[in-house]
Amino acid sequence: MDKRVVIIGAGGHGKVIADIVRKSGDTVECFLDDAYTGDTEFYGSKLIGKAEKYKELSDCYFIIAIGNNGIRERISNTFNCKWYTAVHPSAQISDSVKIGEGTCVMANAVINADTVVGKHAIVNTGSIIEHDCKIGDYCHISPGATVCGVTALGKSVWVGAGATVRNVLTVCDNVTIGIGAAVVKSITKSGTYIGVPAKIVKED
Ligand SMILES: CC(C)(COP(=O)(O)OP(=O)(O)OC[C@H]1O[C@@H](n2cnc3c(N)ncnc32)[C@H](O)[C@@H]1OP(=O)(O)O)[C@@H](O)C(=O)NCCC(=O)NCCS
Repeated sequence: MDKRVVIIGAGGHGKVIADIVRKSGDTVECFLDDAYTGDTEFYGSKLIGKAEKYKELSDCYFIIAIGNNGIRERISNTFNCKWYTAVHPSAQISDSVKIGEGTCVMANAVINADTVVGKHAIVNTGSIIEHDCKIGDYCHISPGATVCGVTALGKSVWVGAGATVRNVLTVCDNVTIGIGAAVVKSITKSGTYIGVPAKIVKED
């Protein structure tokens, strides 16, 4: 409560995070965005500069509201600041779950027993991460996606909206799983996978 939070990224994802910050009893101090061209109002707060301006706001907490996993990784590795973890009050999260700094959990998401979610990840609206999963840093579990129990995702895995990853699988780093896909076997090669059952369509 009562944290002053700077949101890096003045777009739709930033608006959703601003709602969570406010519903959590904290304050949106301002937005920063590299598309900044001058001070302006944005979603009930002010856009006051490019991301680099974070250095002038050292008493605040920060969260990166940018959907691209690689950009979140780059910024989080470069900026020296206190990270804010945003959890919507309607999310259902077991007390045994661990969530890394800078991660956001959106409305109606469910994270079940003994799952670990890494840092700067996105657990998006209405997604489900079942028990005993490991979700790597910078992953994005999109709206309505499901990761079944005891499954481990590497770093920067993007599970598309409504996609399902079967239980007791592993998925390596840097994998994109398309909207509506069903992953039924472990994935060991980076790339883009679509369909039911999911097949690779693009190698990284
Ligand atoms: C898989 C994905 C990454 C591919 O994106 P892309 O490389 O830009 O691909 P395109 O949109 O150019 O589509 C290429 C072809 O694949 C098909 N395709 C794209 N995504 C597909 C999917 N999820 N399932 C089945 N087919 C798909 C397209 O219909 C198109 O087919 P065509 O060549 O016969 O016309 C993307 O479609 C996707 O599913 N992204 C996840 C989006 C998401 O979950 N957003 C949530 C944000 S909160």
